[in-house]
Order: sequence, then structure tokens, then C-alpha cells
Amino acid sequence: MNRDDFPILSRTVYDRPLVYLDNAATTQKPRCVVEAMMEEYYNVNANVHRGVHFLSQKATDLHEQARETVRDFINARTSSEIIFTRGTTESINLLAYSFGEAFMQEGDEVLISEMEHHSNIVPWQILSERKGLKIKVIPITDDGQIDISTYRSILEQSTKIRLVCVTHVSNVLGTVNPIKEIISMAHEQGIPVLVDGAQSTPHFKVDVQELDCDFFAFSGHKIYGPTGVGVLYGKEKYLEQMPPYQGGGEMIQKVSFEKTTFNQLPYKFEAGTPDYVGTHALATAINYVCNIGMDQILKHEQELTAYALQQLRTIDNMQIYGHPENHPGDAVISFNIKGIHHLDLGTLLDRLGIAVRTGHHCAEPLIHRLGIEGTVRASFALYNTKEEVDALVQGIQRVVKMF
Ligand code: ALA
Repeated sequence: MNRDDFPILSRTVYDRPLVYLDNAATTQKPRCVVEAMMEEYYNVNANVHRGVHFLSQKATDLHEQARETVRDFINARTSSEIIFTRGTTESINLLAYSFGEAFMQEGDEVLISEMEHHSNIVPWQILSERKGLKIKVIPITDDGQIDISTYRSILEQSTKIRLVCVTHVSNVLGTVNPIKEIISMAHEQGIPVLVDGAQSTPHFKVDVQELDCDFFAFSGHKIYGPTGVGVLYGKEKYLEQMPPYQGGGEMIQKVSFEKTTFNQLPYKFEAGTPDYVGTHALATAINYVCNIGMDQILKHEQELTAYALQQLRTIDNMQIYGHPENHPGDAVISFNIKGIHHLDLGTLLDRLGIAVRTGHHCAEPLIHRLGIEGTVRASFALYNTKEEVDALVQGIQRVVKMF
């Protein structure tokens, strides 16, 4: 992996080399992504889908090529199933609104898991308030896995569940959920499934047709792309029946004061000027990771995570959440040191140039389930090294000595 592709990694923080371990929150950007944005603003910029002129057509081509790149990346059947959004959160809000309008009635249920982050909880709560729905929760086991047998009984006991919404990978525990099994169990009951892929797409290959998920959401900025761009994949059979989420811009077919008809997929869901520079930059980021190879990235990050777990476990009073021996997790490790508040540990690590996230990680119900107030979280990306893991471990040891 070429760290030189990421200019920010060579900067210092408090006169110390930056050790950036907050990748589950956002990843750093390779030079090619930043340059793609600059190049488009300097040489191409024009609004898409609405000009006959050269620049508009060029910008439209880049934007639609980006859609095709995303389609290919997650292996969707057609690019009309790829909706550009501002990120995972907007993707799920869009789905909650439009799926709710099309397919849900008072008394219906949405099934989510106990390890969701707020973006896969709150939109469903807002929808529930609006439509009089009920939210049901699949519990997790003490070692941070979805409780599959309870999930099965919830599915079997209710005829009112209209959608299952589960994260692919936990942003707190690093748990990689058996998502294919979760999907097929829901499908046995005729229930569609949304997979929150914010934490999976940066780390391993996702194939939405192979998973057979009905909806899949992810963010550009977590996969080395720009902020403010994300994706909602949905099966055409559902998207066709769902009403638009917002009005205006390219989502119309014909407008009069009496009636408006809506554009075809995916434009029906893309109101207003899209972030076409962002979509092109996202495609550049996707091409960047694909050129390295998702399998290579996974292998590197698995080795790094295994090494980090091994080293962290040597520290006295270390409590690591999730990551049981028999379930290798993703490149996210949450931990606490007995007697040291997570915020203090994170703040002191920062003074050593080590960037970690502290707190509830936008997953308060999960943090409560763990019986704690927060954790320190180290999360890895393709550019992290064993030396950085050593720096983290030495940093923690230094803080421990201070207490
Ligand atoms: N969900 C993001 C994180 O885990 C914001 O940091």
C-alpha cells in the first residue's frame, strides 16, 4: 500500500508524526481523488443533464460513468438501481420516507438490530411516529454477535414486519454480520432487507446480487472518496413503486400547476443539482481501491487487526469489546482501560499524535447494551501499518503510567 498517495499522512500533529486511526469515522483521501475534483472544477464544471453545450455533456458523462463505476463495484444489475445521495444517512432517510409511504401502514413493524448506529435507528423512529409503526430490535449476544436464534423467532412470530434493517459491519465492535444468512431468513418470510454498508464497502468486496439484499447504503467518504456523496442501491421492483423523497430538479418528467409526473429511475430520487464533482471523485476512489484490489486490502487489514488485538491484549486492565476468537472481526477495535475514562485516554493519545475516536460512536443503544458510557476506538484503513499499531500500544502504555 502506498502511503505516499495520501499527502495528509506525512503531516505532524503537536510536532509528532500523525497516526491516523479514526478511519471508521472517515478515511483520508488519495491524491488522485483530490486531483479529480480540482480537475473537474478547473476544466469541466457545468450542470449535468440540462445543457446541450460541451461542458454540460462532459460533466454529465463523468457523472453517469460514476454511476456505472458504482454499479460495477457492488455488482448491481443495472445503473438505474444506483441512487446518488449525500451519504449513508441520507440513503436510509430516503428509504425510510419512500418505502414507508409505499409499503407501510399503521401497526406495521420495522426490525433493526441492537448494534445499529443512529443513522439506522432514528429514520425508522421518525417514520414510526409519522405512520404509527412499531420498531422491533434483534438482540446481540454478550460477545457482540447478532443473536440469530432470537432473530429467527422474531421473524416467525410476527406477520407485521415489513422491512429488516441491519448493518453489515458494526462501527463499534467490528463484528461482520452473517448478512447473507440474515437476508435469506427474512426472505423466507417474504420480508425485504436493507443492509447498511457504511463500514463494509471500504474493507471487502460486496456483491449485492450475491447477497440478494433489497437495499444497500454506503458513504463515499469512508471509502477514500469525498464527503457529501453516498449511494442507495435498491431493487428496481421496489424503487419503481416508491414515491420520490424530495421534489425539484431532475426528478420530474412534466410539471404544471395542476400535476407533476416523475422521471424514470434513478432520477426520480435525485432532486436538485447532484454533487456531480463528488460522484466523479467517488468513482475515482473506487477505481483506486479496485486497482489495489479489495482482496489485498482485506488481507492487509485483517493482518493489522489481528496484530493490534494481540498487542492490545498484553496491556493490563484492557477490556476489548466484541472480537471473540471464533469470529474474526473487521478493522475496528473498541476498548477501555479499567480506571481511565475513555475521553481522557483519547485526549492524551491525541497529544501523542494518535487520532482515535472516543465516546458512543453514534451507537448509544449498543453502548448501553455493553453496560458502559463509551469506548476508545481504533479503526484501520489500507494505509495503516504495524508501526502505527505499535505507536498506539506504546501511547496507551504511556497514559497508563500517568494514571
Ligand atoms: N458512523 C461513523 C463512525 O462510526 C460516524 O464514526
